[in-house]
Amino acid sequence: MTIAGTGSYVPERILTNAELEKLVDTSDEWIRSRTGIRERRIAADNEATSDLGTKAALKAMEQAGVTAEELDLIIVATVTPDTFFPATACYIQRNLGARNAVCFDISAACSGFLFALQTSRHFINTGNRKTVLIVGAEKLSGMVDWKDRNTCVLFGDGAGAAILRRRTEDSNESRVLSTVMGSDGMLTDILSVPGGGSALPTTPENAEERLNTIKMEGREVYKQAVTAMRDACIKAIADAGLTTDDIAMVIPHQANIRIIEAITDRLGIPSERTFINLDKYGNTSAAAIAIALDEANRTGAIKKGDNVLLVAFGAGLTWASAVVQW
Ligand code: ACO
Repeated sequence: MTIAGTGSYVPERILTNAELEKLVDTSDEWIRSRTGIRERRIAADNEATSDLGTKAALKAMEQAGVTAEELDLIIVATVTPDTFFPATACYIQRNLGARNAVCFDISAACSGFLFALQTSRHFINTGNRKTVLIVGAEKLSGMVDWKDRNTCVLFGDGAGAAILRRRTEDSNESRVLSTVMGSDGMLTDILSVPGGGSALPTTPENAEERLNTIKMEGREVYKQAVTAMRDACIKAIADAGLTTDDIAMVIPHQANIRIIEAITDRLGIPSERTFINLDKYGNTSAAAIAIALDEANRTGAIKKGDNVLLVAFGAGLTWASAVVQW
C-alpha cells in the first residue's frame, strides 16, 4: 500500500496560552514547560468536524490526483463526530460528492488515524477496495471543560487526511512497511468523557457537573503512554525489518513534548529526527499525526526513500504505530 497524498486543515482562530491565563489559574510558563504547547486552534461555532475533515481531504485528493468518484472507501477517525449517527464519514462523503465510497468512522481516540491506516491496509491488500480516503478530524474545543486547568490547556481542533492505494511493484511510490495496533480496556477510566452516552445520558444535573467533558488522570496517562508508545515503536521497526538507526524521522502523536522526548530518548533517536508541531496546535487527538505527516511531507522534512516511524497513544487505552518508506 502507498500513501499517494496528504492534506491538512486547521481553523483560523488561534487561542494562546496568554488568553488561557484569563480563563483558568494557569500560566504560559507552566503550560510551555509541562507540555511544550504555545497555542492551539479553535473551530468556529458553525464549523463541524466534517467541515474540517472535508478541507483536509480535498488537499490530499488534489495532491494524489484523485477525484471524488474514484474514492471507494472513506474512514474517519474521530471522538468528536458531527452527530452520534450518521457517521462523520458519511457527511464528508456528501460534502465531497464521493458517491462510490463506503463510509464509516473509527473510535480509537488519539490512535484513530493509525487504526484507520491499518484497517485500510487490509481492505487494499485483499483487493476489496482500491482508493481509500482516511481522515483524522476533531473539534475537541466542544468537549473540553474550559473551567478545568488540568485538561483545557492541552487540546485543540484540526484535521488531516491521506489517500491510500495499492502500490504497484517496482514503482518509486511510498510504501507502508508495517502497522501495529493495541488496546487495553482495563484502563478505560484514566481518560474518558463519562457522560452523554448510553451509560450516563445527559441530564441537567450531570451537565452541571460537566460529566460530558474530558476527564483525565494526567500522570497515569503519561506513564502508560511512554511505555506503550515505546513498545509499539520497537515492534513496528522490527516488523519492517529495520533498526532504529534506519529511521530518518519519527512523527509521534502530538500530545506533550515530555512524553515524546521520553520515548525517543529510550529508543536512542535524537531530536533532529523527531517531528514536532504541538507548540502550534496542542493535542488534536486523531488529527494530530495526520496534520504532522502532511506538514512533514509538504515542508520536505521527510524525503523520498526516508523510513518514517508514526506512533500514537490514546484513550481506551489504544496505541498504534507504523513504518512508511516515503
Ligand atoms: N496550570 C497550572 N497548574 C496546573 C495546571 C495548569 N494548566 N494543570 C495542573 N496544574 C497543577 C496541578 O493542579 C498540580 O497542582 P498541585 O501539586 O497543587 O496539586 C500541579 O500542577 C502538578 O500537576 P501534575 O498533574 O502532577 O503535573 P504533571 O507534571 O504531571 O503535568 C500533565 C500534567 C501535563 C497533564 C501531564 O501529566 C501529562 O502530560 N500527562 C499526559 C496527558 C496527556 O497528554 N493527555 C492527552 C491525551 S492522551 C495522549 O494523547 C497521549
